[in-house]
Amino acid sequence: MRFLSEGHFPHSIAFWYQLPCCKILSIMSNGHSNLALQLSRDEMLAFGHEIVAIIVAHLENLSNKPVVRKMDRSSLEKRLREPLPERGVEIGTVIRQLQENIFANIMHNDHPRCFSFIPGPSNFVSIMADALASGFNVIAADWLEASGPSEVELVTVDWLRQLCGLPESAGGLFVSGGSMANLISLGTARHAMLRGKTAGAVVYCSDQTHSSVERALQVLGFETAQLRKLPSDDLFRLSVACLKREVTADRAAGKVPFCVIANAGTTNTGAVDPLVETAEVCRQEGLWFHVDGAYGAPAVLCEKGHSLLRGLHLADSLTLDPHKWLFQPFEIGCVLIRDVHLLKGAFAIRPEYLKDLESTGEEINFCDYGIQLTRSFRALKLWMSLKVFGLQAFREAVARGFVLAEFAETLLRASPYWEIVTAATMGIVTFRFVQEGGSQHDVDRINQQIVDEIFKEGFATASSTRLLGRKVLRLCTINPRTTEDDIRQTVCRMEHFGRLACRPA
Ligand SMILES: Cc1ncc(COP(=O)(O)O)c(C=O)c1O
Repeated sequence: MRFLSEGHFPHSIAFWYQLPCCKILSIMSNGHSNLALQLSRDEMLAFGHEIVAIIVAHLENLSNKPVVRKMDRSSLEKRLREPLPERGVEIGTVIRQLQENIFANIMHNDHPRCFSFIPGPSNFVSIMADALASGFNVIAADWLEASGPSEVELVTVDWLRQLCGLPESAGGLFVSGGSMANLISLGTARHAMLRGKTAGAVVYCSDQTHSSVERALQVLGFETAQLRKLPSDDLFRLSVACLKREVTADRAAGKVPFCVIANAGTTNTGAVDPLVETAEVCRQEGLWFHVDGAYGAPAVLCEKGHSLLRGLHLADSLTLDPHKWLFQPFEIGCVLIRDVHLLKGAFAIRPEYLKDLESTGEEINFCDYGIQLTRSFRALKLWMSLKVFGLQAFREAVARGFVLAEFAETLLRASPYWEIVTAATMGIVTFRFVQEGGSQHDVDRINQQIVDEIFKEGFATASSTRLLGRKVLRLCTINPRTTEDDIRQTVCRMEHFGRLACRPA
């Protein structure tokens, strides 16, 4: 294995972020009044071409760029703090500022060596779809204002329903992401199961459940003590035996168990809770069964994922994020509710100024299904990219995430410096740098140092988490454009930083 030299980026940062731009600049208005906030046809075309060219150049060069670059607050204040611009400036100036100071200081979640947190490997068709949705300024709130887009949302949500195996009675909507999808799901559960009477009600999940669930419950008016975070089993899955015991104990204590949240791919390790068994407990006990598949549910598209996600179709509500493993630009999450009519019961309010929206039963007003009234046409990007690439391409892209995590695991196992903490599953592998004779504290420190250095260097990213109180590193490999060599070089860099961290100061 070859270590990368200090200067392994072929060009300086400045090179990548100062792409020559804007032959149009000279024709853009410069400071004179523009009451209608409009550009001429030629200006719009030139500007549009230039923006697309910038995006394409960015995507073409992405793998040669650092994954992440962070600037300190005071430097950014110096560059970006300015009085509100009373008069317009040349658009070229604005774009230069954007490239040099704003886009130069981000993490590229769609970079092939971005393995931290949950990456966001996007695709160009969806990027353009977002531009179209914005260009036509679609308000996907109601049938009157957006019958076409609403039908596209119905169709696209239904495609996801079919993929997850939910019955035809199920439906849902697109939202900003997993946090909002969990909020809407739990709000629907509260309405359906408790009719708003939250006193004494109890919700159950494993200690590996995403924090958005806890926040959703807070927003919905539940006390912290109403959420039972049960200790997970040795594979970081919900323990069904523990769940049964807790439900029984709570009933005996006069509490009102009403909902269980299971994970279809935890953020930490990709663990999938025993969905079939959990659904069975919910059926027997009369509890709402919510599945948080924000990260992992799209894995149902490939064979391995499909078999790991057995029981997904049993959910009363399901969160699934197309902006994670379905390769969409941020923001698009999806909520699916087994009985779609419950959404209206939980969220629809019809004030007098929206009476014109009243429709025949066939016409769907998505504003009745959730929290947002004004909402963008999020469905378009998923719909367009599925149509243009075809589902088979998505299946292969999802399957690649599994293969890459397994490849990373094989590499790590072959090196004496690493121990695997959780085997590759659902595109995630967790591991730790080991130091012979090192105390737990030392080893935790070394692993933290590896992450700090990897973020600082920017060649690749990996993030850390805690499992059973110990620091671990994790790689999430869901970008289908990642190569085996990307992984090899990333492991190599981490190993280099680990060895440096072991040296006495
Ligand atoms: C399992 C899980 N649930 C929920 C969320 C929250 O999703 P979002 O960040 O889209 O709000 C995440 C985010 O990583 C997640 O991994």
